[in-house]
Amino acid sequence: MSVAESGEIFDRDCRACPRLATFLDGVKERYPDYYCRPVPPFGAPDARFLVVGLAPGMHGANRSGRPFTGDHAGILLYQMLHKYGFASRDHSEAADDGLLLVDCRITNAVKCLPPDNKPVGAEINTCNSFLANELMTLPENSVVMALGGIAHRAIVKSMGFRQVEFKFAHAALHDLEQFQMLDSYHCSRYNTNTRRLTETMFDAIFAKARELLDK
Ligand code: URA
Repeated sequence: MSVAESGEIFDRDCRACPRLATFLDGVKERYPDYYCRPVPPFGAPDARFLVVGLAPGMHGANRSGRPFTGDHAGILLYQMLHKYGFASRDHSEAADDGLLLVDCRITNAVKCLPPDNKPVGAEINTCNSFLANELMTLPENSVVMALGGIAHRAIVKSMGFRQVEFKFAHAALHDLEQFQMLDSYHCSRYNTNTRRLTETMFDAIFAKARELLDK
């Protein structure tokens, strides 16, 4: 049964990208305990705040089966989600740790672990229909946080807008008609270690999201 026929917004058994499916098979052989499948979104479909990352990290979401869970990229993210009332705890340990998101959902532009953390254009495009489905469930007055340029462009594409009209810039706010999109540099280890993204900068993005949602 296709995803459309089943009414599901996401295919947990998707193997549409041959390179990613083959790569995941190999990673599963090396790490039999890892999740190693398309990682589903975390949080309620009708949440008003959607955080969109890039793709599962090898020893994070790909291991745990929950976005941004188990590696460095999630540390600051869950701290901020908790600080601004979007999460019941300030860290996410495992998919079954009981953590709850509040009016918030977390997903990735690409649902499968890509080699070297780099999905190719065709993979981002193939996965785009899942993201489009998720964006469609957003209620009115929602805010979508794009973590990095790839997530930003995937969101613009999902909504059928032209990329030239919406350029990625840290802290930029874009009106995409159905919702507002707030850009942030990705909270990756590289960006936080190089201080391209500091805690203060990320905090300000979350404060803005909270303000928009509380209006
Ligand atoms: N983990 C995720 O789930 N997404 C990212 O973008 C990075 C790490």
